[in-house]
Amino acid sequence: MKNLKFAAAFLTVAALLTCGGETATELEATLPGPTPERVILTWNGPPTSTQAVTWRTRIPVKGARAEITEARSAPFLGDEAREVSATTQVIELATSEWNDDLEFSSVSYHSVSFTELEPATLYAYRVGSDEAWSEWHHFETASDTPEPFSFLYFGDAQNGVLSHWSRVLRTAYRTAPTAAFAIHAGDLVDRAHQDLEWSHWHRAGGWLNATLPSVPVTGNHEYRAYDRERTGDPVLALQWRPQFALPEVADLPESLAETVYTLDYQGARLFVLNSNRSQELQVRWLDRALEEANRDNVTWKILTLHHPVYSNTEDRDNPGLRSVLLPILQRHGVDLVLQGHDHTYSRGHVPVYMQPTDSGPSGTASEDDPKSVSTVFVVSVSGAKQYEIAADRWDRYGEDVALDRMAENTQFFQVVHVEPDRIGYRAYTATGSLYDGFELMKGEGGEHVMVDLPVVQEAERSHANTPPYSSGHWRD
Ligand SMILES: [Fe+2]
Repeated sequence: MKNLKFAAAFLTVAALLTCGGETATELEATLPGPTPERVILTWNGPPTSTQAVTWRTRIPVKGARAEITEARSAPFLGDEAREVSATTQVIELATSEWNDDLEFSSVSYHSVSFTELEPATLYAYRVGSDEAWSEWHHFETASDTPEPFSFLYFGDAQNGVLSHWSRVLRTAYRTAPTAAFAIHAGDLVDRAHQDLEWSHWHRAGGWLNATLPSVPVTGNHEYRAYDRERTGDPVLALQWRPQFALPEVADLPESLAETVYTLDYQGARLFVLNSNRSQELQVRWLDRALEEANRDNVTWKILTLHHPVYSNTEDRDNPGLRSVLLPILQRHGVDLVLQGHDHTYSRGHVPVYMQPTDSGPSGTASEDDPKSVSTVFVVSVSGAKQYEIAADRWDRYGEDVALDRMAENTQFFQVVHVEPDRIGYRAYTATGSLYDGFELMKGEGGEHVMVDLPVVQEAERSHANTPPYSSGHWRD
């Protein structure tokens, strides 16, 4: 049976290779077999003491498990490692029209949650079974004190994920190699359920995903009708929950499980929303969660969601979302909002002296003190698809909000450095060149002062002053 499978796989590989270079790049690194692939770290518990890892095999394996030990420089890591059995689920991929071209119909997803880890400790782990193991990977648990740390933030990858997004992720890693985690702010792929696109996303990350934990956010493209006629309601990508082990919040419905959650990391609390559905219900939850964060004296409250509170583009505004969300953000003092969806770049803020009311901020922006802020909003894009900014879009939001920096036709990544009394934000282009940045300092009363980076000199990037854009060139 195994030989037959191998033969079929070999023929498939041969067929794909002879179809030209385009399809050859669509192959994963391994043939269908027991070898772990798509190994990826996420959290479903506190980063100080837990770490989750998932992977998959293209054939069922017996005794799927992980081994973990404190990392050390001597090589025989297995001698002192402890074993943790995996939870396995078989996912049928070929039941969706999206995957009709796959040469395999089902895959086994395996998941392990490491618990009772020591804070601020480097661990080594590997995943697999008696048939095949991954290499040993490292991860480091969070400190239980508010030590400074950095994280990465990516807007939509979505298009040209392997061909054009991989360079952004890899440049981000070279720019911030000690980043604690990476936020992917929705639209990780273009077509939910389509396994080929997920294979591109995982291949772009490669071994990095096994050592740098991911914090994934659902975008609208993670939802698609699943039935063959595509007439049903959009449902979450069938790969999402098997491949990402994420928190399940007890007082939220099952339909939001592993898409809405919080995460504490060294003095910052991250709030992840699913802006695709049940917005009012989530806002009520967020209200309570932010209240709790303030009771816990959390220093920094950072929100990430896919749809922008302030859109950059024409006909893509989200006034309903803004009307329910903004008053909550203002009332509880959310510091930073990281978003995607618009395939453009913008950074703006709501001035601090606008007293929040139930209907949102009120007051008038002042030219005298433009960098006193309450909440900073960022929209970014990391993938190849690029939209046009509506030039006066932010002006039409009125004087309750101010735009600080924008860009078109540019792939970005962001490095956010968090310290107890300041956040240092940097937006880099795909080539690693610094395009935007600010320092956000928090006073004792909770008020912010935002200082733009003086080193940012580059002219605003737009479709008018960058190479011509064609939406077809990034097709994988
Ligand atoms: Fe998108």
